[in-house]
Amino acid sequence: MKQPFKILAISGSLRQASSNTAILNATQQLAPANLEVLLFEALAELPHFNPDLELEPPATVLEFQQRIQTSSALIISSPEYAHGVPGSLKNALDWVVGSGELVGKPTALFGVTARGAFAQASLRETLTVMMANLIEGACIQIPLPSQNSTVSEIATDPKCSSIIKTALEALVTEFEQNSG
Ligand SMILES: Cc1cc2nc3c(=O)[nH]c(=O)nc-3n(C[C@H](O)[C@H](O)[C@H](O)COP(=O)(O)O)c2cc1C
Repeated sequence: MKQPFKILAISGSLRQASSNTAILNATQQLAPANLEVLLFEALAELPHFNPDLELEPPATVLEFQQRIQTSSALIISSPEYAHGVPGSLKNALDWVVGSGELVGKPTALFGVTARGAFAQASLRETLTVMMANLIEGACIQIPLPSQNSTVSEIATDPKCSSIIKTALEALVTEFEQNSG
């Protein structure tokens, strides 16, 4: 890897014991030393999106936009609620439609195997129309070892860790190829 690589990881679940957040924390543990995976932990603090506020966005929104700008890539891991994307995640994405931080941004979609096909498809559609650079090799379904897998169970499971590492490599390859 030629240069430092920083990934912003966003979980679509606010739940304390979220499997999606656990996947992202496991990803953080599995990343090589020169690849920094940082979780965005303020999804719940973003106000409801309102175009009237876009000219002078609230501080939490500015921070979210800046965190995306200063990241080389994004990973989004999300559950599905009622066949849709969780409102808090869609709300966060709405805040960066007009400001454009996602345009061209290498982006990975993570999900749990056999769960949430509608939300994954909907997220793909939203990210595509926002012109994010969806990296197919980094869009993965993770077969969790159990219903309530812990971070270390995911990180040490041979199948999960291998799938996650391969996705990270795909993101890094994309970044290196396109950053000169
Ligand atoms: C309100 C609600 C609605 C849900 N709707 C769906 C659904 O439509 N499809 C699905 O596959 N799972 C659905 N689920 C299950 C969650 O997606 C699943 O529990 C997921 O693991 C939660 O992610 P988390 O562990 O990261 O919080 C729903 C869960 C809740 C709480």
